[in-house]
Amino acid sequence: MTIRNKITQIVRAEISVTDKLQQICESLRSSIPHFHWVGFYFVHGNKSELKLAQFAGKPTEHTIIPFGKGICGQVAISNENFVVQDVSEQDNYISCGIDVRSEIVVPIFQDGKNIGQIDIDSHDIAPFSKEDEELLEFVCREVALLDLEMLINRDPS
Ligand code: SME
Repeated sequence: MTIRNKITQIVRAEISVTDKLQQICESLRSSIPHFHWVGFYFVHGNKSELKLAQFAGKPTEHTIIPFGKGICGQVAISNENFVVQDVSEQDNYISCGIDVRSEIVVPIFQDGKNIGQIDIDSHDIAPFSKEDEELLEFVCREVALLDLEMLINRDPS
């Protein structure tokens, strides 16, 4: 089965939304050798910040990221994919470990609104291809079909 078919199968499975997101993270991480950390961040209610939801890989202390900060926070504002082939060349970058050499973040839109993103960290330099970017755009379109209200958490504490 292709990774895209696997993602579609997970999105349509009769399991909870959180289980779906968790399985998507794990499938991507195990299928793509240069995807070492895979996670979803969603807008944190009415705050101008992102909150970490499901992820696969090493736990990170960066569970809340203000808009504008780091690669993730910049994508929350720009509404555009951000491919960083070498994190050492970025000033506005939040390190999640010395192993991480590159990162790609792709926004998720619902009703034209940027409501979150998928974030991939890699231990390799310049590993990301156009195919990776297109795969992640596909994943984000599939995830956007889900009811994410609970994760977006309109009344955050
Ligand atoms: N490196 C990200 C922070 C999140 S971690 O990669 C999990 C950034 O600069 O926004």
